[in-house]
Amino acid sequence: MQELFSDRISDVPPSFIREILKVTQDPTVISFAGGLPSAALFPTKAIQAATQKVFETGGNEILQYSTTEGYGPLREYIATRYRDKMGLEVNPDNILITNGSQQGLDLLGKALLNEGDEVIIEAPGYLGAIQAFSIYRARFHAVPMDDAGMQVTPLQSTLATARAKLMYTVPNFQNPSGISYTNARRREVVEAMQDSRTLLIEDDPYGDIRFEGTRPDSFASMMPERTILLGSFSKTVVPSFRLGWIVAPDSILEKLVIAKQASDLHTNYFSQRVLYQYLCDNDLDAHIENIIDKYGRQRDTMLEAIGREFPDGIETTHPDGGMFLWVRLPEGYAARDLLQKAIKDKVVFVPGDPFYVDGLAHNSLRLSFSTVDEATIAEGIKRLALAIRELLQEGRAA
Ligand SMILES: Cc1ncc(COP(=O)(O)O)c(C=O)c1O
Repeated sequence: MQELFSDRISDVPPSFIREILKVTQDPTVISFAGGLPSAALFPTKAIQAATQKVFETGGNEILQYSTTEGYGPLREYIATRYRDKMGLEVNPDNILITNGSQQGLDLLGKALLNEGDEVIIEAPGYLGAIQAFSIYRARFHAVPMDDAGMQVTPLQSTLATARAKLMYTVPNFQNPSGISYTNARRREVVEAMQDSRTLLIEDDPYGDIRFEGTRPDSFASMMPERTILLGSFSKTVVPSFRLGWIVAPDSILEKLVIAKQASDLHTNYFSQRVLYQYLCDNDLDAHIENIIDKYGRQRDTMLEAIGREFPDGIETTHPDGGMFLWVRLPEGYAARDLLQKAIKDKVVFVPGDPFYVDGLAHNSLRLSFSTVDEATIAEGIKRLALAIRELLQEGRAA
């Protein structure tokens, strides 16, 4: 059977997260493992109304094939929002609507990567990007993160020794760590990249979900000719529409359009029309404020519970937005061992391992606070603290 499959697919391991999600079918298990937005916040009624209006006003054309680049007014909306919210000048012609930003990653791999091409990635990094670029048989160079973003010294040496075509970053409230790059770190990264020909992918699905502080400059504003910016409506409106986008310079966009034509001709036109109608008839910022309010309180609850329950020596990030925080156990302990204990205590999370490209066991883990209510977060952290104490008592793995 093995000979049936392409090398490209055989080399990519199945998603570890799916395995964990199986355990979460049990309703008595508290899950910090999922990476989903909260369905309780979906603007379902408003989307129903937008759908009705599109049917009433759009004619049969709303059910027709459409252009590969995406619905023009939606691309204009995105460009206007970049200008209003970030002071970023983007020409709508440089925007390609994709089937979620995940497709953006796949198209970038398809259009830019030959087998063995080198890609710099954050360690830990977004699992979906590792998977997407692995399909195109990228060779990864992982650069460690600290609380301010990718570390500059290892980045400089990687840029000097590798011939990296791409560098992939999630600069705001990163999945999985919750870390955001400071303004100073962004400048250092841009400076480090000055003499290279590496293109920077700035994947920013969480930037709008900021609980505190002000939005730093985007890489796209600092290095427009070398940055490919990805965005998504999955975390701010709904993920089921699968609507995201890529902003890229002309020459790259042209190739991405060809790659997309080969993949799916165009993104679902009907959902683009409904989403655009929703955006015209509703106040997206007010909706995002609700998300910020809820996730912000859930983050606070999680950090407070961690402060109260966890034993000494456990480090966590303090995300200013997004959906995730990152926990580091003392050196020598494996998060996957903790998971086995945690499952018995009926709480689950994602061990750090799949977010690294080295295949090793790591002492870090991801907790998601977006879908669990405050009381359940407190109980889940209590259970997790119990599992951590058990692990620490057993001592380090031999
Ligand atoms: C960093 C990052 N990029 C991309 C995606 C994919 O999002 P979309 O639903 O737009 O495909 C996610 C989803 O969790 C993500 O965390």
